[in-house]
Amino acid sequence: MTDNYTLNTGAKIPKIGFGTWQIPDGEICYQATLTALKSGYRHIDTARVYGNEASVGKAIKDSGLNREEIFLTTKLPADIKVAAKVQETFETSLATLGTDYVDLYLIHAPWPWQERGADYTKENIEIWQEMEKINSSGKAKAIGVSNFNVADLSAILDNAKVVPAANQIRWFIGFTQDEVTKFSQAKGVLVEAYSPLATGQILDNEVIKAMASKYQSSVAQVAIRYCLQHGTLPLPKSTHEDYIAQNLDVDFAITEEDMAILDNLHLS
Ligand code: A2P
Repeated sequence: MTDNYTLNTGAKIPKIGFGTWQIPDGEICYQATLTALKSGYRHIDTARVYGNEASVGKAIKDSGLNREEIFLTTKLPADIKVAAKVQETFETSLATLGTDYVDLYLIHAPWPWQERGADYTKENIEIWQEMEKINSSGKAKAIGVSNFNVADLSAILDNAKVVPAANQIRWFIGFTQDEVTKFSQAKGVLVEAYSPLATGQILDNEVIKAMASKYQSSVAQVAIRYCLQHGTLPLPKSTHEDYIAQNLDVDFAITEEDMAILDNLHLS
């Protein structure tokens, strides 16, 4: 599966990205990212706060691929809510990744993690202006948000010159965040699905297991395929070569009837 979505910037973004959340920096992240690139992934998702930008950057360099062949995302830490710190934090990410630019730079969350739900609307609007400057410098080819709900995203849209290209949210079978998903998509904001396997928690779901055997696939493949058929962009994470390869091998279609069954599951 090497197809692309098209961002509202006109840029292509490979439909499946390799997620690196919770992959420890160093040899494990380096090998996993290198394996992903060798298996055909051309889209890597990291974040400053994952602490693994250096390993991701080294794997990209050592892959032998040209930088332009890879779509690379990183994120402004959620606890940076002072506009004056944005440029310097971004430059630190670039230096750690060892690259001149990223393809997508996201505000990691609307609030610092320890203040989940707090109102940082004013700060996010100011930060977005800094994101726009980074975008116009060419060092982030696209900019977006993550973990934004409808109100958070509306505030940006009402004040922005540049419409966010993506909203990366927690999204998997049974946890499809319909309100913000529909709102984002209606505004031309690509929904990226992090934890598309619910960090592993849907792997032993009996309904999905039965469906996987019907499609002669794995639960992970059904979960990834489900994202694609809803127009979201899955970012599966794995450190195992066979899983990494399997998660890209999803050239089958779930029928409408089966999609409806999956739509009716409620998990969290
Ligand atoms: P591991 O990292 O040990 O390879 P998510 O993408 O939702 O965050 O889920 C990641 C979890 O799912 C990790 O524990 C990962 O295991 C596991 N995983 C990823 N791909 C597969 C797969 N194809 N089959 C089974 N488990 C998988």
